[in-house]
Amino acid sequence: MAYETPDRAKLSHTGVAPALLRWYDANARALPWRVSPQARKAGRRADPYAVWLSEIMLQQTTVATVTPRFAEFLARWPTIEAMAAAPLDDILSQWAGLGYYARARNLHKCAVELAARGGFPEYEEELKTLPGIGDYTAAAIAAIAFDKRAVVVDGNVERVVARLFAIETPLPAAKAKIKACAEAIWPQQRSGDFAQGLMDLGAGVCRPKAPLCLLCPISSACEAPRQGRQEAFPVKPARKQKPKRAGAAFVLVNAKGEMLFERRPEKGLLGGMLGLPGTDWATGLAEDLYASAPAKADWARAGAITHVFTHFHLTLEVFTAPAPKGFRRWPHQQWIAPAAARLPTVMKKAVAAAMSSPQSPA
Ligand code: ADE
Repeated sequence: MAYETPDRAKLSHTGVAPALLRWYDANARALPWRVSPQARKAGRRADPYAVWLSEIMLQQTTVATVTPRFAEFLARWPTIEAMAAAPLDDILSQWAGLGYYARARNLHKCAVELAARGGFPEYEEELKTLPGIGDYTAAAIAAIAFDKRAVVVDGNVERVVARLFAIETPLPAAKAKIKACAEAIWPQQRSGDFAQGLMDLGAGVCRPKAPLCLLCPISSACEAPRQGRQEAFPVKPARKQKPKRAGAAFVLVNAKGEMLFERRPEKGLLGGMLGLPGTDWATGLAEDLYASAPAKADWARAGAITHVFTHFHLTLEVFTAPAPKGFRRWPHQQWIAPAAARLPTVMKKAVAAAMSSPQSPA
């Protein structure tokens, strides 16, 4: 996007909101859950259901990934009532690949509550009592859908504010200070547009690396470039290494080229999603891997894949074999063609490893 060069007159902190809102009027990204600032001024309101859904999806996932997936969700379940009436399994499989599956479970739980109460509450405090809606999401919905003054701090806003005030405290301890500083510049009017303006500024101008301060509408109020230390903020915490885990996954293939999958237990990591049979994921590989295989078969090693979860790094050894004659699956297992299986990313990687292996029976 081409941004205009902003006015260089020095801004006071009360000048930040008007300057940012003017910039947002000219540069707002067109996003499918968003009402443009122009339409908003003409009286159009955002659909709270679309705002809520997009905010839940965007919590740990990028705008680029969410945009098409949001459209699919909305086409399938156009209203809260439609989503509330859907089976949880449908929501979970539609969510496949978006990660952090607790969000999908809470989405459904929240839809059921909202449908029962007949719609969304408008204020942060009450929004926070709903499943899956924490401080950030409550503020985002109150501001964006209902134009309440609510201080919305996501990663982009955090970065903009940490630079504006040159906050030296490292994250996550800095969060309270960042919130208080955001509060100090937050306008009474157009709270939702201000939030989304800061998000867009963070995404396109006040980028993590090589921020474009020359194009920033609020740089004259910003402390970080004055010190020549834009990239130093927000100050990151000292990194801790994630622990490593290892496991094995088994890709059994039948004569039709279908693979054996099983539904994972409801509770726990990737709960309720489809997965491959395999060992537990532990600190080291089990001695007798094949004890966890779904059948006695002619297993060939297809390779290893890695995946990074929130709390650990996983290395998964992938084995593949044709189903032996007379093999009978358990009731929690199913044969599915690999292209038709809605899988979490780690399982997609394992299936891809099995299919690209020279030993693959698929
Ligand atoms: N990230 C989270 N919510 C967003 C929104 N409403 N617009 C842009 N980016 C976002």
